[in-house]
Amino acid sequence: MHAVAIRKHGGPEVLSYEEIPDPQSSGGHAIVRVGYCAVNHLDIWVRNGIAGKKVAFPHVLGCDISGTLVEGFGKFKKDEKVVVYPAIKSGLPRVSFSIIGGFGKYHGGYAEMVMVPKENIIRQPPWLSDVEACSLNVSYLTAWNMLQKSGCKRGDTILIWGANSGVGSAGILLARAMGLRIITVVSTKGNTPIAKKLGADLVINRTKSDVTAEVLSYTGEGGVDAVIDHVGAKTWPISLEILKVGGKMVACGTTTGGEGSVNIREFYSKEATIHGAYLGTRSQLAALHNFMRSKRIRPIIDRVFDLKDASKAHQRMESGSQFGKIVLRVLR
Ligand SMILES: NC(=O)c1ccc[n+]([C@@H]2O[C@H](COP(=O)([O-])OP(=O)(O)OC[C@H]3O[C@@H](n4cnc5c(N)ncnc54)[C@H](OP(=O)(O)O)[C@@H]3O)[C@@H](O)[C@H]2O)c1
Repeated sequence: MHAVAIRKHGGPEVLSYEEIPDPQSSGGHAIVRVGYCAVNHLDIWVRNGIAGKKVAFPHVLGCDISGTLVEGFGKFKKDEKVVVYPAIKSGLPRVSFSIIGGFGKYHGGYAEMVMVPKENIIRQPPWLSDVEACSLNVSYLTAWNMLQKSGCKRGDTILIWGANSGVGSAGILLARAMGLRIITVVSTKGNTPIAKKLGADLVINRTKSDVTAEVLSYTGEGGVDAVIDHVGAKTWPISLEILKVGGKMVACGTTTGGEGSVNIREFYSKEATIHGAYLGTRSQLAALHNFMRSKRIRPIIDRVFDLKDASKAHQRMESGSQFGKIVLRVLR
């Protein structure tokens, strides 16, 4: 089959479009003919490599998959449209799970076929297009989990970093449908009207304005109820600073680094809570599908690339030029 594999860690140039053997079905697994696979920042982490985390080469990236079943099983029919829940129990102490196509043993969806545990197969919601369906299993699920952990209710104010990102754009769409007041952050002028159209009440351009000053001015110095932080080292100090007393920060990412400083006095004196969020559960994915259907929310798709152009898709994500989900078209 055709796949984009990596045979070493490195830049986008290590993404190699090539023929690799088809996966061979083994007990408890299903084979999915991949239609579309969304690109996530995780793909870049795995491509670059992270010290202490190993993959066996050649490795196929891609955790956000929609496609059709090669064979039926149980209540699923051959050729039925499905999506793949990407978390696999890690079996390791103090590590909840690994992710398909991530730093685990499972190959991902940058390939014409992928073998996954049968328990990870979910019927594709019929109201979503195939491109949309592949976009919800990681960024949208994580944003949904984070919003739930934020404890925010209608009328509360939340700051969501990175309006153009997968997690940020998902967070804005979902938070708007939950009736939250949304502050978001961009770094280019052109993204401000897009973020407003998605539902943000205040858009701060971090290259032109001081985020803390803008947030405190907008909230009458009180601060926000919650922050969705997927950016990491560079934003953690600001996220804590702008929380109101009793506010919650929910963190899921380290785009700008995984080692940061926390103002401990600020943290305890405002009785803040910091929650970690790692993807979300299968039942949260089902609840997300229901919520999106009932609120008529469609995911934001930035651009669709052919599988063989995976390196261009990675370059687009790394340059921060995207708004929403970048998707690879795998079926030919
Ligand atoms: N824990 C989990 O289960 C989970 C799930 C999904 C994602 N994640 C993590 O969440 C992060 C986001 O993922 P994604 O796929 O949404 O990434 P993405 O689409 O590549 O977005 C990256 C975002 O980071 C922003 N950013 C970069 N530098 C910044 C800075 N100095 N200050 C403020 N914002 C900055 C960018 O905004 P500008 O373009 O304006 O710079 C952009 O919005 C990644 O680290 C990913 O690994 C974790």
